[in-house]
Parts: sequence; structure tokens; C-alpha cells
Amino acid sequence: MSHEKVETNIGLMAIFIILVISVGGLVEIVPLFFLKDTTEPVEGLKPYTALQLEGRDIYIREGCYTCHSQMIRPFRSETERYGHYSVAGEFVYDHPFQWGSKRTGPDLARVGDRYSDEWHRVHLINPRDLVPESNMPGFPWLEDNTLDSALTPNKLTVMRTLGVPYSDADIAGAEKAVEGKTEMDALIAYLQVLGTAIKMRR
Ligand code: HEC
Repeated sequence: MSHEKVETNIGLMAIFIILVISVGGLVEIVPLFFLKDTTEPVEGLKPYTALQLEGRDIYIREGCYTCHSQMIRPFRSETERYGHYSVAGEFVYDHPFQWGSKRTGPDLARVGDRYSDEWHRVHLINPRDLVPESNMPGFPWLEDNTLDSALTPNKLTVMRTLGVPYSDADIAGAEKAVEGKTEMDALIAYLQVLGTAIKMRR
């Protein structure tokens, strides 16, 4: 009758539920911190350049992730459309990752190299100039805003403390690398590198 005791005592039941969930969680989650597959970068993955990193910040600021995921699931319907499914080693330099969970627009995990820079520029200013039925908003101000390059070296430094292998030279040259560039330049540089470390399109 010990089972009945647990079922009729909510305090006891809560303790056992917490125990079961903790063990389940530990068994599933802890090994991920030690597996090479999930902690090592895939071959060919490079840290974002200073300009790409700035573009990533624009992507986050403008909330692109509210409509776009960056995570291709290993299903045929996804790989046929977007390319090779996403693997953990592609995201080790992403802090935080931009997997997202909402797809009002298509997944962007492998959009790099798919269109020209000019296509992105026109599309970001007014998507309907290229895709008449699009409900994506335009972001025309990106073209007018110049990046604040004084902050860029700090951003690389912070990423380095999180484990991204930037060299001293990368950080020293970061300000020069983005000087005079617009937010549009940065965002396009970021989009163009997405998913390009793995270029097997099925
Ligand atoms: C309100 C939802 C929404 C937001 C916010 C949004 N998009 Fe989109 N996006 C879409 C939709 C819908 C499409 C598909 C139609 C089109 O191509 O315009 C799309 C298409 C795209 C494409 C083309 C993808 C492909 O494979 O053809 C890119 C690139 C893109 N968006 C980038 C961005 C970026 C960068 C931002 C943030 C600055 C952004 N989007 C914000 C909805 C959105």
C-alpha cells in the first residue's frame, strides 16, 4: 500500500516528481556538455568577422528571430527545402544562438550565399519589390545608420571571454574593420555567412 501513501500525500508526491524529473534531466542534459559533437566547432567554422558580428547584433535588435528560425530539423521536408540539417557544432560561436521557434518567414540557417548582396539590400528595404506577396516589414533605416565602431572591439572581447577564439589582432583591428560601414552592410555580411560552414545542399 506504499503506492497509495504517495498518491494521497501531495508533499511526498511532489518530492518524488522532482526526483524523477531531476534524474531524467541530468541523464539527458549533462552528457551534452562533454560530447565532442555538441561542444566542438564543425570543420571550417570560423568566428564571425567584426562586421558579421555587428550584423548579428542588428538581427537581434530588429527582432528578425521573431519571424525566422535558424534551425533546420532532420526531416526530408526540411532538408529538401533548406539544405543539410543543422548540427550543434555550427553554433558553438553563437552567444546566444538564434535558433528561434517561429517561422512566419522561411528558415535562415543556410541562407548564406543563396542570394546576392544586392538582392538582400533591395529585399530588406522593401521586401515587396522582390516578393510581391511578402508580409515581411521593410527595414529602410539600416541603409542610413552608420555603425558605432568604437564599441566593436569590446563586443569581440566579450565573445572571447565566452570561448570564441578571437586573436589580439582580431580585436585590435575590429574598429577599423567596421568603420564607416552601415547597419545594412553589417546585416548582409551576417546573412551571407549563415550556414556556409556546411555547404552540402543535400
Ligand atoms: C513579420 C515577420 C518578419 C520579420 C520581422 C522579418 N521577416 Fe524576413 N521574411 C518574412 C517572410 C514572410 C518572408 C518570405 C517572403 C519574402 O521573401 O519576403 C521573409 C523572407 C526573408 C528572407 C528570404 C529568405 C529566403 O530563403 O528566401 C530573408 C533573407 C529575410 N527574410 C531576412 C530577414 C531579416 C534579416 C529580418 C530582420 C531585419 C527579417 N527578415 C524580419 C517575414 C519576416
